[in-house]
Amino acid sequence: MGVDVTVNNLTKSFGKQLIWADVSLTLPAGEISVMLGPSGTGKSVFLKALIGLIKPDNGSILIEGTDIASCSEKELYEVRKLFGVLFQDGAMFGSMNLYDNVAFPLREHTKKSESEIRDIVMEKMDLVGLLGAEFKLPGEISGGMRKRAGLARALVLDPEILLIDEPDSGLDPVRTSFINQLFIDLNAQIDATFLIVTHDVHSVRVVPDQIGLLYHKHLAMYGPREMLLSSPEPVVRQFLNAQTVGPIGMSEEKDADQLAAEKDIQLPALPPIPLQLEPSNGIPRRSQRPPGEWCRLNGVTPPPGSFTKEAEHASGSQQG
Ligand SMILES: Nc1ncnc2c1ncn2[C@@H]1O[C@H](COP(=O)(O)OP(=O)(O)OP(=O)(O)O)[C@@H](O)[C@H]1O
Ligand SMILES: [Mg+2]
Repeated sequence: MGVDVTVNNLTKSFGKQLIWADVSLTLPAGEISVMLGPSGTGKSVFLKALIGLIKPDNGSILIEGTDIASCSEKELYEVRKLFGVLFQDGAMFGSMNLYDNVAFPLREHTKKSESEIRDIVMEKMDLVGLLGAEFKLPGEISGGMRKRAGLARALVLDPEILLIDEPDSGLDPVRTSFINQLFIDLNAQIDATFLIVTHDVHSVRVVPDQIGLLYHKHLAMYGPREMLLSSPEPVVRQFLNAQTVGPIGMSEEKDADQLAAEKDIQLPALPPIPLQLEPSNGIPRRSQRPPGEWCRLNGVTPPPGSFTKEAEHASGSQQG
């Protein structure tokens, strides 16, 4: 279960505005990847390109031999069945209650009976903590609840690829921790390929197998979690540690004067790399690797204190 998604030299502009160019990466089958980047760098556009809602100008997106960027509408319809998607705005039908919203893909794409649909809908609503809210309209619930309802809907067709745009915006910190654990547990259970867009620097440290950073119209880096969390690359380091010192400014890039003024500022040491969250449901994850393995294999000395329980607390993690 779970399939590779291979992106080659993907480029997208809207009119004269280049969003990103030459993005190449493989989301490995069954692994959890997280995509980061300043607001407006085209993370949501990237997600939409992956499911063929936005056509790139150049490049390919290969899924089981089909190129999403150039295939026919008919092929696209078939490939889309592999996806579950949670859009940034939740994209709920405003006139349908949560139950009908979550049931929608099942009624649309399967021949399941209403009683089978009911079992699946209630299971997914339970999973995201929304039992009891089935008959509310999207406009009657909080933003965080809408996100979770959107997640339930993304899950009903047992996707091979799950795309999730900012699951934690509008969620309180405790629910964010629950959602993070839910992603790990779900990944163990359904073994799908996950791509999560988030701005939450804590989630990035403990959830993904792979991390990518979109910055300045290109993919600045994409690779294993330990590679990015130990990286001295100024943009990666600044973004992952939410620092003001570095190339990224309030309006995307700092000018030469601003950078010159920073050149004598001593950056704080990189924080220890925390342990990755493990499944709480006892199911092993295919892509879970021994802590520190990437650093060891690549001759990288991780920051002192990495891969200990204390490192988790140092970055504020709330496991369990
Ligand atoms: N359909 C569209 N037509 C024209 N421009 C668009 C369209 N969709 C997105 N854009 C532009 O593409 C750029 C990237 O938008 P996108 O929503 O992908 O950013 P993002 O990285 O997801 O930001 P955020 O973190 O704020 O969600 C923005 O400048 C946006 O205005
Ligand atoms: Mg976005």
